[in-house]
Amino acid sequence: MLSEKLTHYSELSEKKLAELINEAEKAPILAESMAYSVFSGGKRIRPALCMAACELCGGKAEDALYAACALELIHTYSLIHDDLPAMDNDDMRRGKPSSHKAFGEANAILAGDGLQALAFYALSLCPSKDALEYIGKGAFEMVMGQSLDVNSGGDEALLRQLQDYKTGALFRAAVASGATCAGAGMRQREALVRFADAYGLLFQITDDILDFEGDEALLGKSVGKDAREGKTTFVTVYGVDTAKEFADQYARQAREAVLEANADAPFFMELIDYTRTRRS
Ligand code: IPE
Ligand code: IPE
Ligand code: MG
Ligand code: MG
Ligand code: MG
Repeated sequence: MLSEKLTHYSELSEKKLAELINEAEKAPILAESMAYSVFSGGKRIRPALCMAACELCGGKAEDALYAACALELIHTYSLIHDDLPAMDNDDMRRGKPSSHKAFGEANAILAGDGLQALAFYALSLCPSKDALEYIGKGAFEMVMGQSLDVNSGGDEALLRQLQDYKTGALFRAAVASGATCAGAGMRQREALVRFADAYGLLFQITDDILDFEGDEALLGKSVGKDAREGKTTFVTVYGVDTAKEFADQYARQAREAVLEANADAPFFMELIDYTRTRRS
């Protein structure tokens, strides 16, 4: 059911993402480089969460389409810039050369810039102005998290804050914008935001565990870099066993919170279980 739902949500967003990227047709390398990263096998979890939150609150998935596309565009831009030599310096992303390896650094920077701007253009077409506020805030907090990350130097006191910003913020934006596209009230929005707080930490901890013991072929990128480069992650700070205990704890918190939003939330339950044990 999880993979069917994820496929269903992706099918809804693929055409709109292609249409949006086509806005760049008069700058062919920009169009090609943006499409290269947007259509390279991402799991599409943020748009799925946005549309699922909309449905959970009584709306139709399509009502959240522009918000969902904006989230995926911002997410993709964040990964292109995250991989740049000046940041994580990763040559591979999802089993393919990262954007700067395929197109050169200048074009990768511009692909990220273009995707971010396009996201806000897409949001201007979304009927909910609250969605603009939630996603604008989330995109900005993601950058705050990246700044804390590149300057953290292994500081344990910063760990949760930086992970919450760099990864949790876009999940918060996803569920809050999806809920608002359904016209949800504050009680449901707040419960979904509590879900995203916990889910974001769960998601980043499992990303950190995969960097420690994941399968490079499945991940499509190199593993072990976080430790070699002194990154501040749950694994480098606490060790992998304690990181797994934290992941279980945040998975429990995420389940409890989403059930407060709606007692019937099978997609969210399965997504939490999948994320706890994911291999890619
Ligand atoms: C990777 O996110 C970056 C993190 C926030 C850990 P995803 O694992 O959702 O990336 P894709 O889009 O599915 O490749
Ligand atoms: C990336 O975190 C978070 C954002 C891009 C906001 P990581 O640097 O851990 O992500 P991966 O491991 O490169 O996907
Ligand atoms: Mg990074
Ligand atoms: Mg990285
Ligand atoms: Mg990582």
